[in-house]
Amino acid sequence: MNYQTLKNQDPEIYELIKKEEKRQKEGLEMIPSESYASSAVLEAIGSIFNDKYAENYPGKRYYGGCVNVDELERLCQKRAKKVFGAEDYHVNVQPYSGSPANLAVYLGLLEFGDTIMAMRLDHGGHLTHGSPVSLSGRAFRFVHYGVDPQTEQLDYDAIAKMAKEHKPKIILSGFTAYPRLIDFQKIHEIAKEVDAISMADTSHISGLIIGGVHPSPFPFTDVVTTTTHKTLRGPRAAMIFCKKELREQIDRAVFPGMQGGPHEHAIAGIAVALEEAMAAEFKNWAKQVVSNAKALADSLIENGLRLISGGTDNHLMLIDLRPFGPGRGIFIEKALEAAGISTNKSPIPNDPSPPYYSSGIRLGTPSLTHRGMKESDMAQIGKWIAIIVKEFAKTELPGDPKKRAASVKDFVGRLEKHSLVQEVKKEVVEFASQFTIPGID
Ligand SMILES: Cc1ncc(COP(=O)(O)O)c(C=O)c1O
Repeated sequence: MNYQTLKNQDPEIYELIKKEEKRQKEGLEMIPSESYASSAVLEAIGSIFNDKYAENYPGKRYYGGCVNVDELERLCQKRAKKVFGAEDYHVNVQPYSGSPANLAVYLGLLEFGDTIMAMRLDHGGHLTHGSPVSLSGRAFRFVHYGVDPQTEQLDYDAIAKMAKEHKPKIILSGFTAYPRLIDFQKIHEIAKEVDAISMADTSHISGLIIGGVHPSPFPFTDVVTTTTHKTLRGPRAAMIFCKKELREQIDRAVFPGMQGGPHEHAIAGIAVALEEAMAAEFKNWAKQVVSNAKALADSLIENGLRLISGGTDNHLMLIDLRPFGPGRGIFIEKALEAAGISTNKSPIPNDPSPPYYSSGIRLGTPSLTHRGMKESDMAQIGKWIAIIVKEFAKTELPGDPKKRAASVKDFVGRLEKHSLVQEVKKEVVEFASQFTIPGID
């Protein structure tokens, strides 16, 4: 994208875009829910479809002039079903993002107050999986399962036992911070035993499913949601797949239940990303994402760090900072950022600290892999991360919660002059600058 019109018309915004391009080029983006959209996807999102109102669904819109958006939306649906092998499903491609998609499923299939079973937030669930601060947790009754305390992995027998006890209407799997594979078939069977709807939120792993490196929730799971901007490498949006008998409830929940006019420019971007995902290049990328994650996990462990569940089978991993003390995630996130490495602090199973001061670091390989990095690069990146973690993981938070924000600010202020951070940053910038980024000329 050359942004020439924007440069002339609004140099302030243009400069911010250029600064962000520089930050991304010179740094290592390791937030596992991020990826790069291609130039073709970005062009589609930036297209004239942005300007079109098209409430309701193809063939029955509340606005005129929908001939092209109807064709676009139908094509997007066709591609979505094809790429996931979900020909027997209905797919709604209108959700604005992952959170409204999940809420639309609950709204469409349940009454307020009904019971949903899902993963605890601190064990890897998402806010929309029943957190009390989310509308999901306020409008529905959630009961939460967690990971096994020893293996830190899913315990399907415990989930089955809980399902029998609570008789939920929906059993939800699919997570935001879980480094292992999910057996969707088992979850579906557990749901069927108690007459529940099985729902898989595949937001993090949908690209891995397409690439054949994670088990698929199709063709048995009743409802499957996914964001389109994580491992699907598309625009910020989402999709809901459902068995055909649930179509009407899901469609009515998305529009008019949750949303107004669909973002047709985003739907154009999803369609482009789905076509890209059918190519061999995408499948090879997905395989490499997992190989790179395993190589990175090995490097972190060799360099003295503990990972939740001892490693990874997918695109992400969680560093357990508790061996250094509780609540250190914020310092490590900031120190890594100062060294050019973007990750995020994250709650970990049985975290003694609240989410903002959590004791884990979540990181992954989708973006680095898209830049062409391989296992040997992960070994080096693991070393840099371990150097920073070990240097700062003993930093303590003040016991008084009112002093915490100031302590973090003071910590960040000192990083600019910290020689070790600056040394690592110099190496990171030199290394990262050799690799191009999709979507940046
Ligand atoms: C598993 C899962 N579901 C849903 C979402 C929500 O997606 P969004 O941020 O697009 O609302 C996320 C986002 O991180 C997620 O990880």
